[in-house]
Amino acid sequence: MKKNKKLLTVTAVLFVFIIFLVQCINKKAVPDARGTAFAPEQTCRQCHQAIYDSAVTSAHFNASAAATAKNVLGNFNAGHNIFMYDSLTKLVMEQRDSGLYQVLYKNNSPLLARRFDIVFGTRHAQTSLYWQDDRSFELPVSYYHAVNNWGTSPGFSATVPNFNRLIGTDCFECHSSYISHKKNTAAGDHYFAADAAVEILDKNSLVLGIGCQRCHGPAAAHVNFHTENPGKQTAGHITANKTLNRQQQLDQCAVCHSGNDKRKIQSRFMFRPGDLLANYFLPAVVADSTRHFDVHGNQFNLLKQSRCFLKSNSITCSTCHNPHGNAAMPAAVYAQKCMSCHQEGSADFCTVKNIAVAELKANCTDCHMPLETSDAISFRVSGSAAVSSYLLRSHRIAVYKETKKK
Ligand code: HEC
Ligand code: HEC
Ligand code: HEC
Ligand code: HEC
Ligand code: HEC
Ligand code: HEC
Ligand code: HEC
Repeated sequence: MKKNKKLLTVTAVLFVFIIFLVQCINKKAVPDARGTAFAPEQTCRQCHQAIYDSAVTSAHFNASAAATAKNVLGNFNAGHNIFMYDSLTKLVMEQRDSGLYQVLYKNNSPLLARRFDIVFGTRHAQTSLYWQDDRSFELPVSYYHAVNNWGTSPGFSATVPNFNRLIGTDCFECHSSYISHKKNTAAGDHYFAADAAVEILDKNSLVLGIGCQRCHGPAAAHVNFHTENPGKQTAGHITANKTLNRQQQLDQCAVCHSGNDKRKIQSRFMFRPGDLLANYFLPAVVADSTRHFDVHGNQFNLLKQSRCFLKSNSITCSTCHNPHGNAAMPAAVYAQKCMSCHQEGSADFCTVKNIAVAELKANCTDCHMPLETSDAISFRVSGSAAVSSYLLRSHRIAVYKETKKK
């Protein structure tokens, strides 16, 4: 009896010890490449459950992800998985035991197979990358929601297959939380355009998705503080958004939403709430406020040209967007945001006379923020010579000629 009890105690102690050890090892196994100032994103859920559960479904959290069967969009079934370059050359999307692949065939014999390793994007389109040693390359074919089909990746030929487009840190700086890289040649102290050709990426350091700390800054000290002071209801060791001025709030989004052609001074990964864009980018070479900014990714510079923005002194991205949610909402919900300033019945309301107010209220945006064709992105689907355009919501709020007569 006594012996049994002793054995039980020893086993129990051993068991607890092993669990403890396993946890230590687990913790060691996944160090955060961003450094000890960062906490694992999941820890935020303990105290911010509603925000966390909303954010994990957002385009930001899923801006980059592992290319699992669940995350990859597009049809892999026979008859829907082929892109023809010419009558003898085709690319086939294949599901194999070791993953999903784009396989190039010439005369029906396989020439080259590259695996989907990482996906970028969920909402309008999705492009994929494959790893080769310490470099990543864009796969030649992407998925487009507008046509629910595969099409050439932006900038790729529809007649000549190309597996050699390097993807450097620049894309990751807007589409992920972190990746570290080294330059493999003496590229000088500054390089303005990210030059993927001279970069060696550390793929193990990749932190996928745009997580909480990408916008809020490192929060390990905040987590420790509140874990040790569970009664404290005012936030410690974190930048409160309400203490930021308008420019700082705008720049928190504009660091990724003001276009891809910036002359960079330092990495976007270094950006912290409160920072200003001016410290990250040199001014445009040609200062021209009437320049037509491309709709792709440049909501900030388009919004900045709007009278709403210039005259109200209060509009920020958060006026219309929940940073922890999704943009796709009924047009009437956005109309409410417009009408917080353009009240119905006031002189500030829509001046169109021949349309019923109820109809106006249903959808301000299709007339004043119309969908526009991106100059930077277009694509072609298999077997068609036509170029498909890529539509995005213009953030230049204005009266557009084409919406004058409905
Ligand atoms: C142990 C609990 C706890 C954890 C874990 C935690 N927080 Fe908090 N956090 C709080 C409390 C308490 C507040 C203050 C009340 C509030 O705003 O919800 C707060 C507030 C905040 C605020 C608002 C600050 C302000 O004043 O506007 C941000 C942003 C924030 N936390 C981010 C994070 C992030 C990011 C993580 C994960 C890395 C995280 N928190 C993890 C307890 C926690
Ligand atoms: C680290 C870069 C980064 C920052 C910072 C950032 N965004 Fe984004 N945002 C993106 C990328 C990339 C996408 C496209 C994600 C996708 O669809 O895969 C996106 C998508 C969006 C969308 C579309 C979401 C949808 O559901 O279609 C909105 C709205 C948005 N961002 C608003 C904001 C606002 C507001 C802020 C500031 C509070 C902000 N973003 C900060 C990179 C960023
Ligand atoms: C795209 C940037 C972005 C991301 C990603 C993001 N936040 Fe926020 N967060 C903001 C902004 C901007 C505000 C201020 C909102 C406002 O002014 O209405 C905010 C406000 C908050 C607040 C305080 C206000 C509130 O609503 O209670 C908390 C807490 C918070 N965020 C936690 C988180 C956590 C936890 C995550 C990850 C699950 C996260 N945030 C991800 C941009 C972001
Ligand atoms: C300056 C930041 C920035 C850079 C750099 C950038 N993107 Fe984006 N990207 C965005 C934003 C913001 C969006 C969201 C929608 C929009 O405005 O087009 C986006 C959208 C996308 C989408 C469509 C996502 C969706 O859900 O609809 C894909 C795919 C994409 N980017 C791939 C790339 C690739 C590949 C690179 C590098 C060659 C790259 N991006 C570089 C900011 C950036
Ligand atoms: C924060 C307040 C605010 C919000 C929100 C807002 N606006 Fe405005 N808007 C203004 C102000 C202020 C002006 C300038 C009025 C003037 O010049 O007298 C303006 C001007 C306009 C103009 C005239 C533009 C021009 O170039 O002549 C249109 C159209 C307009 N807004 C539509 C909208 C729509 C549609 C929305 C929602 C998508 C919206 N606004 C949201 C404040 C706002
Ligand atoms: C006056 C309202 C308003 C403001 C302010 C605003 N947006 Fe939007 N945004 C919209 C609407 C409406 C849509 C379309 C939503 C839908 O139906 O998908 C949209 C869509 C987007 C998208 C998805 C891309 C697309 O074309 O579908 C991104 C990204 C985005 N906004 C980013 C931003 C950023 C960043 C800011 C601040 C610089 C901002 N928005 C300010 C109203 C606004
Ligand atoms: C069917 C398209 C359409 C819809 C829907 C619509 N507008 Fe307009 N809006 C116009 C046009 C066109 C004008 C130019 C007015 C004119 O010709 O008198 C205009 C004028 C305006 C102006 C005055 C612009 C100026 O020059 O000062 C504001 C403000 C405005 N709209 C806001 C809104 C808001 C807010 C909504 C949603 C509640 C809305 N509009 C819905 C087409 C539309």
